[in-house]
Amino acid sequence: MDHFLYRDGQLYAEDVPVAEIAAAVGSPAYIYSTATLLRHFTLFDEALSWGPHLVCYAMKAASNQAILKTLAEAGAGMDVVSGGEYARAKAAGVPGDRIVFSGVGKTREEIRTVLEGGIRQFNIESEPEMRAISEIAASMGVTAPVTIRVNPDVDAKTHAKIATGKSENKFGIPIAKAREVYAEAARLPGLKVVGIDVHIGSQLTELEPFAMAYRKVAELTQELREDGHEITRLDLGGGLGIPYTRSNEAPPLPVEYGAMIERELGHLGCEIEIEPGRLIAGNAGILLSEVIYLKEGEGRNFLILDAAMNDLIRPAMYDAHHDIVPVIEPQAATEQQPYDIVGPVCESGDTFAKGRMMPPLGPGDLVAFRSAGAYGAVMSSEYNSRALVPEVLVHGDQFAVIRRRPSFEEMINRDSLPEWLQAD
Ligand code: LLP
Repeated sequence: MDHFLYRDGQLYAEDVPVAEIAAAVGSPAYIYSTATLLRHFTLFDEALSWGPHLVCYAMKAASNQAILKTLAEAGAGMDVVSGGEYARAKAAGVPGDRIVFSGVGKTREEIRTVLEGGIRQFNIESEPEMRAISEIAASMGVTAPVTIRVNPDVDAKTHAKIATGKSENKFGIPIAKAREVYAEAARLPGLKVVGIDVHIGSQLTELEPFAMAYRKVAELTQELREDGHEITRLDLGGGLGIPYTRSNEAPPLPVEYGAMIERELGHLGCEIEIEPGRLIAGNAGILLSEVIYLKEGEGRNFLILDAAMNDLIRPAMYDAHHDIVPVIEPQAATEQQPYDIVGPVCESGDTFAKGRMMPPLGPGDLVAFRSAGAYGAVMSSEYNSRALVPEVLVHGDQFAVIRRRPSFEEMINRDSLPEWLQAD
């Protein structure tokens, strides 16, 4: 459920008409709902209330300071994957002991920064990384709490580009090698093993792949305990999918996910951590856009929008489907027609949808891409020198710009000319 609903014939974000935001901020714009963000966080928090747990929001999904602060104030931890994300989490007031650090390529500089600033745990992804963390922590005279990410070799049954738990993927260490690697971790100075980490992919629409992976983690927990390791935390990653279409998709609910975790892992007495990103932010955001032209092509009509692939890359990158809805609700009797919905960027890949059935639309009409809150703004670029789209946060009947649209001058001023090109 989200808080983008039609009222009196127009789309609202909570209690604010989307058209009002468009008039104030311009188009395109990302618009997020505070109530939806909080609702999704709370669903996970409650689903794990059977035991000790921490929901660490995977902030790669949407990392605006206002979003992070909203979730942090509700009690969320953060899953970060770079020094930049760590800095953003800290700036939003998240204490280090609520931040977990994931990612296959943590640099020495990032490791040092995080050890200085405080961290709940490193989720180690390889032996060389484990040795680097040990060396740096020991040289600083501190102890780094660590889990090791195991790759359980299960098929997440999702898009190949976002599956991470098969042996051919770059993530984690093979689960069969785990006992050996944990033994080395226990010998190394500066490390304190606290648990196990696993993350098998994103946009999973069934529970079974998770359950298969978690069963393997349960087995490994027993084995590692027999080997003398203190396994007190299990970080189960993120990945629970969301419905991208209103009609036929019904991925499992957080409450079902939480019950499955209890079934598979509850008996181990561990603290459970999860790292959901998409489910918290995805349906909490829309991308507002305006029709620039309606162009009649051969046998098809192109709806040319002011948003493009640089603003929302998911359709071009993963053939992802986003529902696109008119901001002003069509009359019930209006006949729909097929449109190819495209952006202004000079690539054929800048196509959001082909043959999409829509009510009649024309220049100046506003539309909204649904489910754009996760992996939307964060994956945008300035390709074609298009300014980054502003972000707006709605809270009840209020809204605020939480990242403004940069001017062209600001864009240009980030470049600098070498001496030999400067004017005489
Ligand atoms: N934890 C780790 C270690 C991850 O790599 C990810 C996502 C998450 C948690 C959060 O997964 P979520 O709950 O959001 O599924 N750009 C792609 C998605 C990439 C996901 C990468 N890792 C997309 O737009 O579909």
